[in-house]
Amino acid sequence: MLVSAKVIERSDVPVIDLSRLIAANEVDDALAQDILRACRDVGFMYVSGHGIPIDLQDRMFDASREFFARSMEQKLDISITRSRHFRGYLPLKSIGASSGRPVGRQEGFQIHAELPPDDPDVLAGKPLHAPNPWPSFMPELRPVTLEYYSAVQSLGMSMLRAFARALQMEEDFFGPYFQKPLMMLRLLHYPPQDVVTDENDIGVLAHTDAGGFTILLQDMNGGLEIRTKDGEWARVPPIENTFVINLGEMMQAWTNGVFMATPHRVVNWTGRDRYSIPFFMNPNFDAVIRPIRIEGDEARFPTLQSGPHLLETYRRIWPEYQGTEGDGR
Ligand code: OGA
Ligand code: NI
Repeated sequence: MLVSAKVIERSDVPVIDLSRLIAANEVDDALAQDILRACRDVGFMYVSGHGIPIDLQDRMFDASREFFARSMEQKLDISITRSRHFRGYLPLKSIGASSGRPVGRQEGFQIHAELPPDDPDVLAGKPLHAPNPWPSFMPELRPVTLEYYSAVQSLGMSMLRAFARALQMEEDFFGPYFQKPLMMLRLLHYPPQDVVTDENDIGVLAHTDAGGFTILLQDMNGGLEIRTKDGEWARVPPIENTFVINLGEMMQAWTNGVFMATPHRVVNWTGRDRYSIPFFMNPNFDAVIRPIRIEGDEARFPTLQSGPHLLETYRRIWPEYQGTEGDGR
């Protein structure tokens, strides 16, 4: 049986134009309303007018494709198992396997904030604060990835202003929580999969994102699906020059459940290699996320601390690597 045969073609993910937010750094009422509706009712949106040049998106995808085409021996040189800080290359269907949970049909390369070796938090050995491992066999990967990282981070910072306005709060409410944020950028490669017989053997299993929110660039193949309120799976097909933004568990807790962290998965049924690049926007390590009480509501989510919450999540996903060994990279 094909899992994808049950998937419905329509989803209600809105396309939101950010042109004015990006050009004038202004969140007007209409935009705030659109964003509130998307975050509250769907948990997912496409954004256009985001200000990230097509040329940069293309160069990032080209570099990603080239990286994954390199030999396994080369890629393993920067394996995540050599990092204390959850950075590096993750081979197809291997890392994470010892958790006893099914692992996805994908390989990845992930970085977090690019911190210099003399950064005070790096020197102090603060978890998740470290330089990134870069491939010596492909020196051109670093500049384009960092250029892309910085462009998406700036889009993320603009989104935070829009989220605040959608919640009828001061536009810069979230700013202080994202001064040294725990971002993660992942280059992902999903090999094609013709027949799907087991919904635990797909590109990414059904999950919600753990952090703040995610800004996803997907190639034109398709494969992303979200779970609708009726429990059906609905495709989120690629739309040229848009990003897909979805909320994670932290943002859901922070907004006391007003924003939805919607379950999603990837099934690469297209017959072609699929590439995608999620960027996870997470608050500072020490940020304390306490549910915002809207209209005097009782807090329905626990207060959490960003860094420890993410560390716990990463250790659960990649139990082979508890972030305590390795050669310090
Ligand atoms: C994720 C995710 C979707 C994609 O990495 O959390 O949902 O299209 N990725 O790669
Ligand atoms: Ni996800």
